[in-house]
Parts: sequence; structure tokens; C-alpha cells
Amino acid sequence: MQVRFADRRPEGDYALVLPVAGKDRSALTSLGPAQKAAVAALDRQRFDGEASGTSEQFIDDKGIMRRLLVVGTGGGSTPHEAAEKLGGTAVARLLTSGETKVVIDISGLKFDADSAARVGLAAALRGWRYDHYRTKLKDKHKPTLTEVTIVGGGSDAGKRYAQRWAPVYEGVSLTRELVTEPANIIYPESFVERVKAALKGTGIELQVLDRAAMEKLGMGALLGVAQGSVREPRLLVLKWNGGKQGDKPTAFVGKGVTFDTGGISIKPAQGMEAMKWDMGGAGAVVGAFKAIALRKSKANLIGICGMVENMPSGTAQRPGDVVTTMSGQTVEVINTDAEGRLVLADALTYVQQTFKPSTIIDLATLTGAILISLGHEWAGLFSNDEKLAGRLLEVAEDSGDKLWRMPLAESFDRLIDSQIADVKNVGPREGGSITAAHFIQRFVENGVKWAHIDMAGMAWSDKASPTYDKGATGFGVRLLDEYVSEVLEA
Ligand code: BES
Ligand code: MN
Ligand code: ZN
Repeated sequence: MQVRFADRRPEGDYALVLPVAGKDRSALTSLGPAQKAAVAALDRQRFDGEASGTSEQFIDDKGIMRRLLVVGTGGGSTPHEAAEKLGGTAVARLLTSGETKVVIDISGLKFDADSAARVGLAAALRGWRYDHYRTKLKDKHKPTLTEVTIVGGGSDAGKRYAQRWAPVYEGVSLTRELVTEPANIIYPESFVERVKAALKGTGIELQVLDRAAMEKLGMGALLGVAQGSVREPRLLVLKWNGGKQGDKPTAFVGKGVTFDTGGISIKPAQGMEAMKWDMGGAGAVVGAFKAIALRKSKANLIGICGMVENMPSGTAQRPGDVVTTMSGQTVEVINTDAEGRLVLADALTYVQQTFKPSTIIDLATLTGAILISLGHEWAGLFSNDEKLAGRLLEVAEDSGDKLWRMPLAESFDRLIDSQIADVKNVGPREGGSITAAHFIQRFVENGVKWAHIDMAGMAWSDKASPTYDKGATGFGVRLLDEYVSEVLEA
């Protein structure tokens, strides 16, 4: 989707979008002679102007038959939210409508440059699709809309979009692509190759550890998960040095299980195809890096993606196996389906020993239990640091990637003590997301600020929103990008 900004409506053929808040019809005065009929049509349709509500009609716009889409912007949302709902709703309605161009006239909204730019961001995000494998898509189901022009957002809106939000769109779309691809296409090695190609020319430094390198480092937990699969594991390391030299980096660590069958503790068949997106944490890290690099962030960042496939086979690890992690701690693998935490354990030790980060944020589609707690509305946030947790909750609110704080407590930590090893990889069913977080915390070294984001309910959506269609959401990219922008660059 091409996103443009202009001072006035262009000539010619396009669909026109006008925002209308509640009962106020003043935005339609710009229609001139067509206004009266247009207002009458809104009333007939009982259009109430509430946010995201729409009304579509055709008007005679000075001799041109024009599609008019009125989008409601009423209700109590902030300008940022209203802007994104407007841009996203407009594109959702028009994407496959037959229209190729849309003009969204926000002259009446008194948006600042950032809100105006966010209309463009949401329009681009909502226009994202991945039709790569759909060879028989009927013409009338194919997207037609290719250009969005936002009119009346002020002279700085275009610059703001290019500098701040176009990079975020690029990052989110990379993440969505990786999450959408099936596991026969995206596996650890091909994930790395796809990312290399996508990040070329951004200035991000990449480093890849193969099985031999990880064996040398003693990553018995990550390799234990990988050992059932014919796919070779990879640890992908991303580096961005935009900050002051010598400033300790912040690390983002992502769970990258390219397919999670559960291993020998195999999952039921029903819905197992969803486990292609069990690499959503790693996908978010990569997408965030792309966004951050494209806008030339002034921060020092490390990204780690622990990439494995979790398969049952004659070489797979067994329930009861004891593995030795890179940290030296031993783990009793009670359930081979609790594999994400095993991958993260070694990824965390690696990043701490190698890069000495001050802060680590890990993202993982870690537990089904977090879906029971928070559904598809919030990801769970766990942290050993009040200030870090507070800042993350703030940027979650601003970015739209919502977080809800979950507890950590000694009593939960006791539940993963093992009889035979230092720790076991699962506790009881109750509080399953919390004991999972505690498992990860055992690999966080003293003095390191750490946050863990359990996004199992957020990487994929069965229903559309103003900024995404059904499918991969790109969750985590905007959150990390906003954290870097608001906390690390501030
Ligand atoms: N990848 C899953 C978690 C998951 C479940 C993500 C549903 C998205 C939707 C994870 O590896 C897993 O299997 N967790 C187990 C842990 C259990 C064995 C302690 C779970 O949640 O059932
Ligand atoms: Mn699993
Ligand atoms: Zn998993």
C-alpha cells in the first residue's frame, strides 16, 4: 500500500473517506451540493458516528460518481487510537472493493502530525496480506486498493510517517510473513536465511550459531529440544549499535520454535497446525530490529532468536531425561512439550555471558495457560524489576500491544524443584504461566533487569481488528519499538 499525504483533495477518481464523530455532520459540508442527500442517507442508515462504524454510499461529486465511506470516530478514544481506527477501518472496507485509490480527508479532526501519520500506519498495516500460496483467488476477492492519500494532516504528517511509522510497518510485515509461513517452509535454517535477506542493507549485524557451536557452549537444553528433528537448530544473533559506545545493551530474546508437536509428550491433533506460529517471539524480535534499524535508533541492542523444531522421533528426548544447560544448571525434562523455556534458558545464558546486557526482555508463545488467564486481549508480563515493568506497561498502552502484569513469588518457584536435578521444566497445572516464568527466571543472573512476555494468545488472531486481518498480528514489534523509542532513546 502506497501511503501519501496531501494538503487538499486531488482531482479524479478515488473513494473518499470522511470521519464523522457522533451526530455531528459538519464534515460533510465539504461535499457541496451532494451534502444534503449524503446526510439524509446517513440518517436513513441510522449511522450513529460511533468509532469504527461505517456507512457507504455513492454521491454525485461535481459530476463524478464517487464512493463515499463515512467512518465513525465518536466515543472516548485518544487521538492516537481514533487515528488508527480510522485508517484501518477505511482500508478494511475498501481493500477488495474495486477501488484502487482512497482519499481520507481528516481536515476536520484537528490531528497533530503524529496522529495524522498514524492514519497512514493503520491503513498500511490493515492492507497487509499474504496471498503467496493462493493461486486460484477469484478476481473479486483480490485486493484492488493500492494507494491511500491522507488529506489535511498538516505539513509535517508525511515526514512523521516516513521517519517514525513506515519503519514500523516494515517491521510488522516481516514478522507477519515469518509467522504466516508454514513449518515446511520456515524452519530454523530457512528462518535465518529469510531474515538475512530481509535485513540486508539495514546496518544490523548478524551472527549465526550452528549445532556444533552450540554444543561447544554446552547448550544442552536447547539442543535437547532440537534432537528429535531432522532440522538443524540455529541461534540467530542480531546487533544494533546506535547508542553511545560502551553503554550496556538491552537484549530482546525470542522463542523460535518453528513447529511444536510437543515432542514425545505429543500434542493432540486438533488444532496442532497452529503450532507453526510458535516462533512468534523470535519473529517479533526480528521485526522490531528491522523497524528500529530503519529509523536509525540511538540505542544499543542485542537480539537473540533460539530456533528449533520440536519433533517426536527415535532421537527425540524422553520425559525424565536430564539435560545440562549452558549455565551449568541441570534440568529434569518432565514434559517435552514444555520446550520453549528450555530454548530460552540457554539463549538467556548465552546473551548474558556474551553481551552483559543491563536489561533483558524475552518474548515467547510460551503457555496455553496464559490464554486461560488473559485470552486474546493481553499478553502476560512477568518481571523482577518494578521500574522496567512499569515502563513496559506504559509503552504497551501506547503501542496497542497490550500487557497485563502477572505475579512472581517464591512459593511458585518451589513448585519446579526437582528430585533428581536442579529444576524441572513443568510444575502443576495450576498457575502454569507463572511456573514457566519462574523456570526462565532461574537463568537470569544477579543484577540483570528482566521481563518475560508470554504472548501465546497474541501472535495469531481468529478475528480481524482495525490494524490486522485474521491471522498473524505482528504482536510485539510495536511494543519493542515503542520501548526503544520512549525508554531507551528518551
Ligand atoms: N507452544 C506451546 C504453548 C502454546 C499453546 C502456544 C497454545 C499457543 C497456543 C508451549 O510450548 C506448550 O506446549 N506449553 C505447554 C506447557 C505444559 C506442557 C506445561 C502448554 O501450555 O500446554
Ligand atoms: Mn510445547
Ligand atoms: Zn511451544
